[in-house]
Amino acid sequence: MYILGIESSCDDTSVSLIDATDEGFVIIAEKTASQIDIHKKYGGVIPEVAARAHAEYILPLIEEVLQGKKPDAIAVTSGPGLMTALIVGVEAGRTLSYLWNIPLVGVNHIEGHIHSVEASPEARIEFPGLALIVSGGHTELIYIPKQGVYQKIGKTLDDASGECFDKVAKLLKLEYPGGPKISKMAVEGNPKIIAFPRPMMKEDNFDFSFSGLKTSVLYWLRDNPEFQESSVSMNDFCASFEQAIVDVLVHKTIKAVESYHPKTVILGGGVSANKKLRETLQTQLMGISEKTPLLVPEIRYAMDNATMIAIAGYYKAKKQEFTSWNTLKADPQWELGES
Ligand code: KG4
Ligand code: ZN
Repeated sequence: MYILGIESSCDDTSVSLIDATDEGFVIIAEKTASQIDIHKKYGGVIPEVAARAHAEYILPLIEEVLQGKKPDAIAVTSGPGLMTALIVGVEAGRTLSYLWNIPLVGVNHIEGHIHSVEASPEARIEFPGLALIVSGGHTELIYIPKQGVYQKIGKTLDDASGECFDKVAKLLKLEYPGGPKISKMAVEGNPKIIAFPRPMMKEDNFDFSFSGLKTSVLYWLRDNPEFQESSVSMNDFCASFEQAIVDVLVHKTIKAVESYHPKTVILGGGVSANKKLRETLQTQLMGISEKTPLLVPEIRYAMDNATMIAIAGYYKAKKQEFTSWNTLKADPQWELGES
C-alpha cells in the first residue's frame, strides 16, 4: 500500500510517499521545501510566516511526490508543533482523505523522529528501545517497551538543546539556525578552553535544563567582549559550549541505558546531526554495552521530514490505528504517550 506522509509542524514543508507491505516499506519519493531563507532574517521561526509558506508549498509538493499515483492512506503530523503550521498539513491530509475516501493517520512528530532512523533500509528498531530526541523544540528521553508504547522518562525543564544552540548562535551573531554553524566551528576548536556548566548532570533523574548554560554563555561573553582577539578563538568557544551540551545529553542517556537495558538506542531530531554528539554517545555506549546498537538517522532524516512521518504512520496503519478525516485535529501540545 502507498502511504503519503505530510509534515508541516515547524519550518519545513515536507511530503513523502512510501510503498509498504506487511514485511516492510520502501521510499518511493520525497520532497522538502525548507523555509530557512525566509526565517533567517527574523532570527527564528515566525509562526504566521511559516503558515503562509506551508500553504503555498504543500499542494505542489504533494503533486510532485505522487506523480499521478493515488495513495492508500495518509499519515500527517498532527502535533506537537506550531498551531498555525500544523493546521496546514492537517487540513491538506483531511481534505485528501475525504476526497479520495482513504484512511488517515495522525502522527506525533516525536514518534516520527524516533522512526527516522528506519529510513535507512538496514536499520530496524528492536524493543525495548530507548530514544534521545533532541531538536529545536524538544529534548526528551523516551523508553519504548514495545512498538507504539512510549514512556517519557526525562525531558528538558526549560529550553530544548537545539534552542540553546540557536540562542547562543544568536548571541554570537550567527544566522538562524545556529546549531550547524556552531558545530562546524567547534570541529577546529579545543573543548577544554572554557569550563561552561553542565546543568543537572549530577542530579538523580533523567531531566535536562539548558537555560542556565545559555545564561553562563551570556555572562562569559559580557565579561570577555574582545575574546576573538585574545587567546580564545571563536572555534574554542564553540567547542567548549558544544562539549557542555554533549556531556549532559550523553551522561543522562548512558544512565538511562544502565537503568532500562534497551535492545536499541535511538538518537533523533535535528541536533542528532551533531557529529560530536553522535560520536560521543557511540563511544560511551560501546563502553557499557558493546552489543546495544545506536541507531542514528542519515543527516537529511535528522531534520524534519515527511518520510519519518510516513514510516511512523505505517506502523499505526498496520494496527489499524486510523483517525477519521472529520475528527482529526492539530494538537500543538500533544505529548507522546498520550492520545
Ligand atoms: O528536528 P528539527 O529539524 O526541527 C525541530 O523539530 O525543532 O531540529 C532543528 C534544530 C535547530 O535547533 C538546529 O540548530 C539544530 O536542530 N541542529 C543542530 C545541528 N544541526 C541542526 N544542532 C547542533 N549541531 C548540529 N549539527
Ligand atoms: Zn522535529
